[in-house]
Parts: sequence; structure tokens; C-alpha cells
Amino acid sequence: MKDIQTAEEIHLVVDEFYKKLLADEKISYIFTDVVKIKLEEHLPILVTFWSQAILGTGGYVNNLTQIHLDINAKSYLSKELFEIWLDHFEAAINENFEGFNCERMKNQAHNLSTIMQIKIAQQDK
Ligand code: HEM
Repeated sequence: MKDIQTAEEIHLVVDEFYKKLLADEKISYIFTDVVKIKLEEHLPILVTFWSQAILGTGGYVNNLTQIHLDINAKSYLSKELFEIWLDHFEAAINENFEGFNCERMKNQAHNLSTIMQIKIAQQDK
């Protein structure tokens, strides 16, 4: 298997990832009920985010942690939900690619998940 090297390949990963999230009723309600995402608008934002993070392209300007604090204010984002999210994310990568950029993507998702959970815990005090 090859490594992730283009925005098209990132698109394939986030597409597969969201299929898994939306098929898992333990987490899908966040994307369908709490925040009603429009996939055709949401997926390109994710591609921009991960292209910036992994390929060094620009264009992502939003405050990612604040966006997730806002979701948490509507419906608690538990440690279990973060674990489910990370499991599907890693599976979507591992089933399609392997290599250095894959490891960087999984590490960054893990680190951001930790940061978000710390901020959520601080907010809930
Ligand atoms: C419990 C785990 C998580 C859930 C349920 C979740 C849910 C969501 C939802 C519903 C949105 C859409 C927000 C909106 O459009 O208003 C979103 C956006 C996003 N999430 Fe998460 N998320 C989780 C964890 C993470 C983690 C760990 C990352 C790390 C990379 C991440 C990356 C993103 C990105 C890049 C966006 C796009 C933000 C934007 O519109 O600028 N998410 N998430």
C-alpha cells in the first residue's frame, strides 16, 4: 500500500471516515441531530484542514477547538465518543494507505483529541 501524498487521497480517506462515522449509531447522532452537517460542504473543509496539516498547503482558518467546544455545549463529547471517532479515523487510513504521512495524520488526530478533551474538562468545571 502507498502513503497519502495528495489532496485527492486525503479526500478518499475523509470520505471513507465519514461513511464509518455515519454508519455507527453510537456517534452518528452528533452529525445528524446535534449538528446537521451537509456532507458536500463539510468534506471539502476537512480536506483543506488535513491538506494544510499534512501536505503543508494553506487555507484553513477556523478555530477547531472552539468549534468542538460549541458542539460539546449542545451535547457532551465524552471520552468514549473521542475513542470511537479515533478508531474510525485510524481504520479509514489503515484500510487504504500506509507510511509516514499516515502516521503523522493519526498522531495529529490523537493530539488534537487530547487537547479538545482537556479544554472540554476545563469548560465543564
Ligand atoms: C468526539 C469526537 C468528535 C466529534 C463527535 C466531532 C464532531 C464534529 C462535528 C459535528 C463537526 C461539524 C461542526 C460544524 O460544522 O459546526 C466537526 C468538525 C470538524 N472536526 Fe470534529 N469531532 C470530533 C473530534 C474531532 C477530532 C479529534 C478532530 C481532529 C482533527 C476533528 C476535526 C474536525 C475538523 C477539521 C472539522 C471541520 C471544522 C470546520 O468546519 O472548520 N474532530 N466535528
